[in-house]
Amino acid sequence: MVTTVDRPIGMFDSGFGGLTVARALIDLLPGEDLVYIGDTGRYPYGSKPLADVRTYARELAWSLVDDFGAKAVVVACNTATAAGLDELRGELPVPVIDVIEPGARALVTATRSGRVGVIGTVGTISSGAYVHAVARTGAPVHLASAACPGFVEFVERGTTTGDEVTVLAERLLDPLRDAAVDTLLLGCTHYPFLARTISDVMGPDVTLVSSADETAFAARDVLAGLGLLRSDAPGVGRHRWVSSGDVDWFRLLGSRLLGPELDRTEAWSRSGGCALGDGTVGG
Ligand code: DGL
Repeated sequence: MVTTVDRPIGMFDSGFGGLTVARALIDLLPGEDLVYIGDTGRYPYGSKPLADVRTYARELAWSLVDDFGAKAVVVACNTATAAGLDELRGELPVPVIDVIEPGARALVTATRSGRVGVIGTVGTISSGAYVHAVARTGAPVHLASAACPGFVEFVERGTTTGDEVTVLAERLLDPLRDAAVDTLLLGCTHYPFLARTISDVMGPDVTLVSSADETAFAARDVLAGLGLLRSDAPGVGRHRWVSSGDVDWFRLLGSRLLGPELDRTEAWSRSGGCALGDGTVGG
């Protein structure tokens, strides 16, 4: 029998971006099994109506629970968090960990001047989710924000550096430079893959913060609090990589971005079988 504690942590993103969070989770909790779904068949989320993204998020989260037996779901996507976190928390039978709250915490902790910035997709920035999350921290900061349409598409195509990325970054990051922020949160899980260019454009005095590490800590704390942490797990956990789009491309680019284990990427289907568990939920 597979007990609840031995079930995998489920996570999802619109595509490759959530791999930045997967990296942090694997580093922090090496003994945990993991299932990652990249919804590359329906990416990008950032330019779609939030209602559509909410539908995708619910479908993916329920698939992680029903088809893969996930004991917790990490929404490794800011846009999906902005669109549907409350619904997911309200309906899923497992804990749900998001990236926005941890990212906001990391941002206000890192700043020295109190002038902070966040960049994200059109969906995330226009939702106001970061304005609310930063306000909830209670930190006395001034927040500037900018949407960066086009960044995600570069990453999904495998273009993470070069002139085209730099030209776009120069234009989109201009308001943040004008706002004289000393700390910039990468409020889209794809953006850490563009960190070199973003850092070059923002200059050496601006600290870039990603929500990946903070989210991994949040996941550990939630699981530990519920007695769901596989603390005595021997060796390295099993990781499953699943894509709703072109599986060969997910293998190829995923292997480049995260490592060779993505070579084993599987195709996602909503009613896919649960190979990690036997369907029994126990203590
Ligand atoms: N990685 C997702 C996020 O953090 C967005 C990607 C997309 O636009 O599809 O918001």
